[in-house]
Amino acid sequence: MCGIFAYLNYRVPRTRKEIFTTLVKGLQRLEYRGYDSAGVAVDCAGKDDKGSISLFKKKGKVKALDEELYKNDSLDLDLELDTHFGIAHTRWATHGEPSAVNSHPQRSDKNNEFVVIHNGIITNYKELKKYLVSKGYEFESETDTEVIPKLIKYLYDNRESDYVSFSTLVERVIQQLEGAFALVFKSIHFPGEAIATRRGSPLLIGVRSQYKLSTEQIPIQYKSGDSRRDIKNKNYINKVDSSNALHSVHDRMAVEFYFASDASAIIEHTNKVMYLEDDDIAAVAEGKLSVHRMSRSAGEDPVRVIQTLQMELQQIMKGNFKAFMQKEIFEQPESVFNTMRGRICFETNRVVLGGLKDHLKEIKRCRRLIIIGCGTSFHAGVATRQILEELTELPVMVELASDFLDRTTPVYRDDVCFFISQSGETADTLMALRYCKERGALTVGVTNTVGSSISRDTDCGVHINAGPEIGVASTKAYTSQFVSMVMFGLMMSEDRLSLQKRRQEIINSLLKLPEMIKEVLALDQKIKSIADELYQQRSLLVMGRGYHYATCLEGALKIKEITYMHSEGILAGELKHGPLALIDHHMPVIMVIMRDSCYTKCNNALQQVTARQGRPIILCCQDDPEISKMAYKTIELPHTVDCLQGILCVIPLQLMSFHLAVLRGYDVDCPRNLAKSVTVE
Ligand code: G6P
Repeated sequence: MCGIFAYLNYRVPRTRKEIFTTLVKGLQRLEYRGYDSAGVAVDCAGKDDKGSISLFKKKGKVKALDEELYKNDSLDLDLELDTHFGIAHTRWATHGEPSAVNSHPQRSDKNNEFVVIHNGIITNYKELKKYLVSKGYEFESETDTEVIPKLIKYLYDNRESDYVSFSTLVERVIQQLEGAFALVFKSIHFPGEAIATRRGSPLLIGVRSQYKLSTEQIPIQYKSGDSRRDIKNKNYINKVDSSNALHSVHDRMAVEFYFASDASAIIEHTNKVMYLEDDDIAAVAEGKLSVHRMSRSAGEDPVRVIQTLQMELQQIMKGNFKAFMQKEIFEQPESVFNTMRGRICFETNRVVLGGLKDHLKEIKRCRRLIIIGCGTSFHAGVATRQILEELTELPVMVELASDFLDRTTPVYRDDVCFFISQSGETADTLMALRYCKERGALTVGVTNTVGSSISRDTDCGVHINAGPEIGVASTKAYTSQFVSMVMFGLMMSEDRLSLQKRRQEIINSLLKLPEMIKEVLALDQKIKSIADELYQQRSLLVMGRGYHYATCLEGALKIKEITYMHSEGILAGELKHGPLALIDHHMPVIMVIMRDSCYTKCNNALQQVTARQGRPIILCCQDDPEISKMAYKTIELPHTVDCLQGILCVIPLQLMSFHLAVLRGYDVDCPRNLAKSVTVE
């Protein structure tokens, strides 16, 4: 999905070439989110003449944009700029095809007076566009974003007096916007100044200074008296005065600011960051950062804190692996361990999830659990539903966020709603969260991203601690989400005498899980050799039941996401109700048959498949007495407790999809048409 990166150097001389390099590198760090075009805006004037902005935009990869920047010989690359602000963006097309004109930065006019980068979606752009067109503003792109630079120019052109601050203009703009956005603005009228704001899309600011920051808390400036008004009421522009809203945290010292939609683009420059909240307007002018908003709402913290990020750059680098996805698959022994670290005491069998313990009583009193997510995160809910029903003795619903909202599902005050999301920013999941909050349910976030919208907006939650996941196809986040939900079940059942034996069995198995994952990863070459035989096929079915329905859904999702093969996860119990018609000598089928309560039923499904000349590849337990005697290809896995077996079974399917994608010649980390973080509905 779209990525924002911007860089402001104040009294830190940088050549234009260095600025380009920083901007391009920032975009490269965001490439994993998925995109189809990219662009930058920089000052193009010489040292003293501050009056113009150049735009460079290109369809395709950031690398193509980078080449474009150096083709341009009108800019002196060696020119040193004491203070400069550059903005950059990767776009994932929503309104209008991928093309240079539709990519960002979007501009106000041919002179590039105002330029803007945007993540998210403006839902009322048609009305705004109509109004602006009626005022004589000409549009050039098909994007929803373009209304923003046009609108700010309109407000600037119609300003009440000669001086109006940049942040006031932006504030007036966002009063008119509906939808979700993270925005960064640059303007020839405010050289060296930056404005960043957000509503519903993440945005953070990194600060690097040679000196210790004089304070790490930035007080918010509140203004009163202004509310959302109709754009047609021109009088409103006289009513706001934020010209003295700036509050200094740096006293005109050399400082650099980095703006990004995601910490991975900032961390190599600084670990001091500030996350913006919805409707914050952050302004940098004269090297000073200030944050202000309209008015203070109840319970709101009146400061924004500059926090220190713990993430290491090497954590997000690929190392010796061919792709981030491959690296992330192989990280699972550690990532799963990190999910459990400090939370399970293997001596006492206690499980404490710090983010939930204060709400446990309330959760135990609830009428039902609702687990909501999208894609892989939804599958983590499907995978753990059965064990949660058993350990919590509560009804558990698992819902796809989009469908849950489409149905306007009834939700009550005594429901507990879990929102599983790797990124913590998925738009559908976030909207479902708001929906449940409005209805008074207790909301619990299960995310991998500290500071994400879901982790901040829920009442309580669990960080899965899997470490940054870069590959678009989610792997280690799934297994850590899985373990987190199982730990929640264990925490809920601590005082249930009848469940102690079961808890003990699960906790013992969790202890051994990282070693067992290593055993599964050791099968990589075998899985690769099966992929060698399958990669030219058009379809691949994955079949199982019980605990492994989720394994099949998730395995099939991995395969379709990155290999572009048709793949379906099939519940073996439904075989006779349709899927059997697909089975013949040619159709490749992977069957998951583990030694659990569905073993006999799965064997029956196997008979039905082989009776139709199907030639299944079977995922089974090591030394399975029945299956090892058969003449089919098998992938034999270590055996663990039934409710955790899905973790071991999904890994061969992750590896299979990786090898198939490589053999088919596709970009594993950035599959076509997909994005890591889907921040639009
Ligand atoms: C996108 C990603 C998937 C992910 C899903 C949900 O579709 O490509 O890998 O499972 O979003 O994302 P979330 O961040 O909410 O887990």
